[in-house]
Amino acid sequence: MIILMKNISCIMGERYVLRGITWTFREGEHWALMGLNGSGKTTLLNLIAGYVFPSEGSLSVFGKRFGGHDWRRVRRSIGFISSSLQERLYGSETAEEIVLSGIYGTIGLYDRPGKGDRDRALYLLDEFGCGPAAKQYYGALSQGEKQKVLIARALMSSPRLLIMDEPCAGLDMFAREKLLAAIDTMAGKKSSPSILYVSHHTEEILPLFTDVLLLREGMVHSAGKAEKVLTRKNLSSFFETAVAVRRRNNRVWVTV
Ligand SMILES: Nc1ncnc2c1ncn2[C@@H]1O[C@H](COP(=O)(O)OP(=O)(O)O)[C@@H](O)[C@H]1O
Ligand SMILES: [Mg+2]
Repeated sequence: MIILMKNISCIMGERYVLRGITWTFREGEHWALMGLNGSGKTTLLNLIAGYVFPSEGSLSVFGKRFGGHDWRRVRRSIGFISSSLQERLYGSETAEEIVLSGIYGTIGLYDRPGKGDRDRALYLLDEFGCGPAAKQYYGALSQGEKQKVLIARALMSSPRLLIMDEPCAGLDMFAREKLLAAIDTMAGKKSSPSILYVSHHTEEILPLFTDVLLLREGMVHSAGKAEKVLTRKNLSSFFETAVAVRRRNNRVWVTV
């Protein structure tokens, strides 16, 4: 079991940001989490990582129940990529250093990375087609390269779960396709972590995603196998608008 939520609610201020979320994410699955702006996606991710606490309900990650375990340890097995992470990193560090810093979750800030760690950082950069950028300043990289570097960084500690919060936001369509292709290649490897991918565009849901959760106004609209969730009828109900759905390359394109 990767994630188990039972009737989770999250109240912030006076408001329910999440309400009655029941969800099971099993080993061997990859999930896409979809919802419009403000539907509570990032809050749901922050709950999993233990940055936000549930007001009601129960949460387990990797079979460990929230409240009964040191969540810093659970967090070490979670890779997390978000725009707020991107802003916290130093542009004056090289891509290699940024990737290398991904091990500090596991070795502690004052230990020195070893040769093996450096080799792994370069290997991961290569895997994402960023080998030539290793010595370049992170701040000078394109948005798409930055995202790949962040994924490589998250993989340094070999997480069991990789969470990506809107990694394609702000990318042009070519950079987006390149990033999606890199994610597809990563997911095809036996060593791949389970992936939780957040977006508000259905066409970013690659065939690798077995399951989809549609979140609307803090509640689960529907969740389950991708082919059942991403139908015209279900998406029209989700968007509360009759939408047209087109499938190309096993991806779903929605038009209003
Ligand atoms: N710390 C907070 N305090 C109060 N409201 C919050 C907080 N964080 C998020 N919210 C509100 O919760 C709702 C969901 O936010 P968020 O999870 O960021 O949505 P999404 O990622 O789907 O765009 C928004 O209306 C947002 O304003
Ligand atoms: Mg968000």
